[in-house]
Amino acid sequence: MTRRCVCPGSYDPVTLGHVDVIGRAAALYDEVVVAVLHNPAKQGTFTPQERQDLVVDACADLPNVRVELFGGRLLVDVCRELGAEAIVKGLRGGTDFAYELPMALMNRHLTGVETVFLPGDPQFGHVSSSLVKEVARHGGDISGLVTDRVRDALAERLAEG
Ligand code: PNS
Repeated sequence: MTRRCVCPGSYDPVTLGHVDVIGRAAALYDEVVVAVLHNPAKQGTFTPQERQDLVVDACADLPNVRVELFGGRLLVDVCRELGAEAIVKGLRGGTDFAYELPMALMNRHLTGVETVFLPGDPQFGHVSSSLVKEVARHGGDISGLVTDRVRDALAERLAEG
């Protein structure tokens, strides 16, 4: 039986911190489905399709990872449909844990699906999609925090105004 997990997120855009966690999940499970979950209430920097494309590119070296887009769905329903036994999330620190714990408990309450937390690599402890965007917006260098393709896509998007 294939042991499958889901790495969910908004990925607006994917960072190297995300890629580190996805890669480590790929070493633990037979198959990882990166679920790009679009929140229609949130105006993103990238469209859901663009986010998915950037994650596909960032995970190109991980053969047991696939990337799918889900809009307006409960994560637990996505997990059930995919036959995933766990949700895998990275934790950079206590603030992430405080944010993630109620969601993990709610998801387990709803369908029994477990959440597995992986400690984020400290080299990416300061890396988030929102901070990367803020630094880029003010002309800072985000090399080494995101893939080159994300860096270039962000520069292009910000130049559009
Ligand atoms: O990258 P993010 O924005 O921290 O990811 C949050 C995400 C998308 C994983 C979370 O909002 C989510 O699971 N959304 C899907 C809708 C859902 O299931 N909501 C109830 C969560 S308990």
